[in-house]
Amino acid sequence: MKILVTGGLGFIGSHTVVELQNEGFEVVIIDDCSNASEKVLEGVNAITGKMPLFEKIDLRDKAKVSDFFKRHDDVEGVIHFAASKAVGESVEKPLLYYENNIGTLVYILKELSKKKKSSFIFSSSCTVYGQANEMPITEDAPVKPAESPYGNTKQMGEEIIRDTCKVIPHLNAIALRYFNPMGAHPSAEIGELPIGVPQNLVPFITQTGVGLREELSVFGDDYPTEDGTCVRDYIYVVDLAKAHVQALKRLLEGKNPKNYEVFNLGTGKGSTVLEVIQSFERVSGKKLNYKIVDRRPGDIVSAYADTTKANEVLGWKAQFTLDEAMKSAWDWEQKIRG
Ligand SMILES: NC(=O)c1ccc[n+]([C@@H]2O[C@H](COP(=O)([O-])OP(=O)(O)OC[C@H]3O[C@@H](n4cnc5c(N)ncnc54)[C@H](O)[C@@H]3O)[C@@H](O)[C@H]2O)c1
Repeated sequence: MKILVTGGLGFIGSHTVVELQNEGFEVVIIDDCSNASEKVLEGVNAITGKMPLFEKIDLRDKAKVSDFFKRHDDVEGVIHFAASKAVGESVEKPLLYYENNIGTLVYILKELSKKKKSSFIFSSSCTVYGQANEMPITEDAPVKPAESPYGNTKQMGEEIIRDTCKVIPHLNAIALRYFNPMGAHPSAEIGELPIGVPQNLVPFITQTGVGLREELSVFGDDYPTEDGTCVRDYIYVVDLAKAHVQALKRLLEGKNPKNYEVFNLGTGKGSTVLEVIQSFERVSGKKLNYKIVDRRPGDIVSAYADTTKANEVLGWKAQFTLDEAMKSAWDWEQKIRG
């Protein structure tokens, strides 16, 4: 079965390509390499013994998207990772984000709407919940007004898919709301490759640990949490990748009672920033250079998932501990800097 993975050279996409190939799917990747390198293909090949098909296409090019689906009319499912994801940049360049994250989604859905049956998985985010009123966060928690154009593209993306599924019954879609993806493949053949200053905590920690950055700033230690630092739900990228395979199979096997569904993907456990730092110090045997600074405007205090729906309906549960995920991130960082 041929599956299109857009953004398949990226962080979560590449790990998902590995899991798909391990399960026997034929994968074709579309990526424009705006935030990834073609070298990722070698890493995937080293892990799975199989080179996925790859086409370098900018999905903002509607004609090229259409041409791709004509040439690959045997694509049975699409996992759509391709998007721009830097929250700060999205505030400065909202139209880039609306074009790249919404325009590309619309083009793909248009193509899928022409097919007799299609299965579509969308990368959404826990940012849709903002600061939720109750922890852990279930899928029924209200979607809060987005804090950034990036967050808005995830909310709008979900709405566009939901509205399209209402009128196209043979389009089957699942939106997966990721909490905080982290780590790298245990082989250290693929991992997260942030361009410039990392936006996420874990690559910032590992880059500081390896000496690429002098110091990590911890934004605020006076929040109403166990140790005063913000709480997030860190999900290992390999666990996350496996959830995509489960979600896709659910659609391909017709096990979905509704043609649009939403699932949280997290561990169900919140960790504070200081706990993540301690995890790094345990697995690396190094002291991390960090300082506590003022709170950062816009940061939410706490977000962790209720994963009951994914556990029971998708039959998926995160398997790896924070330390295991952290060790993979550290192994990867040392390999790419070594
Ligand atoms: N990493 C996170 O913390 C996180 C959390 C929640 C949701 N998400 C979402 O998950 C998805 C994947 O995230 P990631 O961390 O792997 O990001 P990533 O940047 O590593 O991967 C995205 C990939 O898409 C490609 N791409 C971007 N625009 C494209 C275009 N117009 N045409 C073709 N390819 C294009 C990039 O080159 C990159 O390889 C994104 O939709 C992101 O918004 C990520």
